[in-house]
Amino acid sequence: MKKPIIAFDFSTKKEAVQFLDIFEGESLYVKVGMELFYQSGAEIIEIIKKRDHQLFLDLKLHDIPNTVKRAMKGLASLGVDMLNVHAAGGSEMMEAAMEGLAAGTPSGMDIPKLIAVTQLTSTSENQMQSEQLISATLDESVIHYAQLAHDAGLDGVVCSAFEAEKIKKATKASFMCVTPGIRLKGMDAQDQKRVMTPHGARTHGSSAIVVGRAVTASEHPLETYRLIANEWEAVYS
Ligand code: C5P
Repeated sequence: MKKPIIAFDFSTKKEAVQFLDIFEGESLYVKVGMELFYQSGAEIIEIIKKRDHQLFLDLKLHDIPNTVKRAMKGLASLGVDMLNVHAAGGSEMMEAAMEGLAAGTPSGMDIPKLIAVTQLTSTSENQMQSEQLISATLDESVIHYAQLAHDAGLDGVVCSAFEAEKIKKATKASFMCVTPGIRLKGMDAQDQKRVMTPHGARTHGSSAIVVGRAVTASEHPLETYRLIANEWEAVYS
């Protein structure tokens, strides 16, 4: 994926639109998560799509297969480009999500990509073992969930760039590894534990990078975005 995905971690439609205005004339790939979607609903999706940007709707669905299938059917009708689920929902739920997307995609449009969250990066190995009663290592669990997502027919996973190579080896080279935690050299990592530059992410096997505060909190968002995009695309092409 050529364009870095910008995480629109805003709480209001107003903020999101003001930020979009800065990028007038640029064709973007935007990520809308729970915070913005739960405030602005489908309206924000419509606004972003009307401006011809691509959209990753990061809602991390996790429910019984029938509910996820029906939810995905509705979301696909909004014309989004990528969505996600928790792999912990299981193979049947992931397969149902794929069916829902296929059923809800308007004719003539591409079926949105579907990727899975494995273990959240906020979950420690100790927490996973004691709270989820999973006795494997965190790495083993991440790889296992990635394989489950792959076998269910999903397009990829959200993961750390540090995990991308291992995941591709355990699945296939074209299995997408969408990686947050991206900073330009010298930038503040904020609360991210392990960060990587766009160039580093590419060399570690990322298929797409997600960039949030590096751009949204920048004094010069457009310039910073272009720096990141250039570093990412330069190694991409
Ligand atoms: O601001 P920053 O670039 O750190 O934000 C990264 C984005 O990626 C945020 O929207 C965050 O929720 C998301 N994300 C993440 N780590 C994950 C999954 C998603 O940082 N494992």
